[in-house]
Amino acid sequence: MSSVPNSFDIDFNVPFRHRVRFTQDLVEAEFETLLDLLESAAGVQPRVLLVVDEQLAIESARIGELARKLEEHPDVLLMDGGSSERPGPAVALPGGEKVKNSTEYVEQLLALIHERQLDRRSYIVVVGGGAVLDAASYAAAIAHRGIRVIRIPTTTLAQGDSGVGVKNAINYFKKKNWVGSFAVPWAVINDAALLESLPDRDFRCGFSEAVKVSLLKSDDDFSFLCQNAKAISSRDMDLAFGAVKKSCFWHLKHITQGGDPFEALEARPLDFGHWSAHKMEQMSGYRLRHGEAVGIGVALDCIYSSHVHGLPQSDVSRVLQCLEEFGLPLWDTTLNDFEVLVAGLEEFRQHLGGRLTVTMLRDVGDPIDVHEVDYEQMRASIVELKKVSQRCW
Ligand SMILES: NC(=O)c1ccc[n+]([C@@H]2O[C@H](COP(=O)([O-])OP(=O)(O)OC[C@H]3O[C@@H](n4cnc5c(N)ncnc54)[C@H](O)[C@@H]3O)[C@@H](O)[C@H]2O)c1
Ligand SMILES: [Zn+2]
Repeated sequence: MSSVPNSFDIDFNVPFRHRVRFTQDLVEAEFETLLDLLESAAGVQPRVLLVVDEQLAIESARIGELARKLEEHPDVLLMDGGSSERPGPAVALPGGEKVKNSTEYVEQLLALIHERQLDRRSYIVVVGGGAVLDAASYAAAIAHRGIRVIRIPTTTLAQGDSGVGVKNAINYFKKKNWVGSFAVPWAVINDAALLESLPDRDFRCGFSEAVKVSLLKSDDDFSFLCQNAKAISSRDMDLAFGAVKKSCFWHLKHITQGGDPFEALEARPLDFGHWSAHKMEQMSGYRLRHGEAVGIGVALDCIYSSHVHGLPQSDVSRVLQCLEEFGLPLWDTTLNDFEVLVAGLEEFRQHLGGRLTVTMLRDVGDPIDVHEVDYEQMRASIVELKKVSQRCW
């Protein structure tokens, strides 16, 4: 019998499939898109728990219709998402950071998954903004070590960025996304009609991430956003959904083909502008939306990049004008507290471990990973951003 060595390292690969669908009207004309994703095992109807963003359920009649269609469909076993006090076909969770700021809602979902006997071949269909998707996806990832999740994002930000990501988290120790996991969703459906009820403020938020990813990947796409920012923020849906689609494509391509889907390496280019954004969100007590904080963070790191890494000043002007035309803020009072803000750099490093690694820009489409930040140049960049934000274009 051959002997087994005392030490061996074995590499192995696990294939994943990322299923993304774009629909114009999922609930009415394209309901089949959802049904097609619900695989039945050995002819048994799949158990489905429907989780919805409460705000969305109030604003959009489509959510009631979606629940009704799932409930009535013979090939689906829609589990009761209500409680004895509030019966109903769906679990409604509060939207926004509230759902991530405590363990309450994750625990509520875990209890329901347990009571309704969902297993690894069951589905959690979660419809809502990035925060509800994050919390529900986290509960699904830890129950039975992973239940299938179909994400139906309903904000521009979640459709173009977080919804297709492979991460989930809630906030803990008063820190953003401190508890969470990596888990590839079973599928993601981005639907244009579900964006209709989104308030303007949240509608605009997604385009800061679109600007961010275009600055990393493509000058052409960045120019497209610059040319169409006003029309998109006025909700020209053909242009807006096209921009969301492109942003989604770049994020997905980076995650699936960038060589580091589970962020084991130091660099995290998709987090361009995020070291300050996460800190500003937290400092503002989540008054600032993630997308707003990202817009400001991107503006700041572009100015810094021009001071330190050679990003042409003309590009900085394009970025600032573009964000402004999207109706996104360029300034927030949290930036006045420099010492607290730069503590965000250390938190960013701790989250990843290893050396501090922040992405900056040498040019549009030409990012660079840097391991130190010049505090005086960053301070000067903040002063410059404050001045620019007070100017009219
Ligand atoms: N997991 C990731 O990879 C990842 C990446 C980026 C961001 N995020 C997280 O995503 C969250 C932000 O998500 P977001 O920008 O989608 O906002 P959000 O989830 O905070 O939603 C914003 C508001 O819009 C409401 N809403 C959502 N869809 C609606 C609709 N169609 N009609 C009416 N109201 C609607 C929500 O109830 C909420 O009040 C943050 O917690 C952020 O950390 C996660
Ligand atoms: Zn982000």
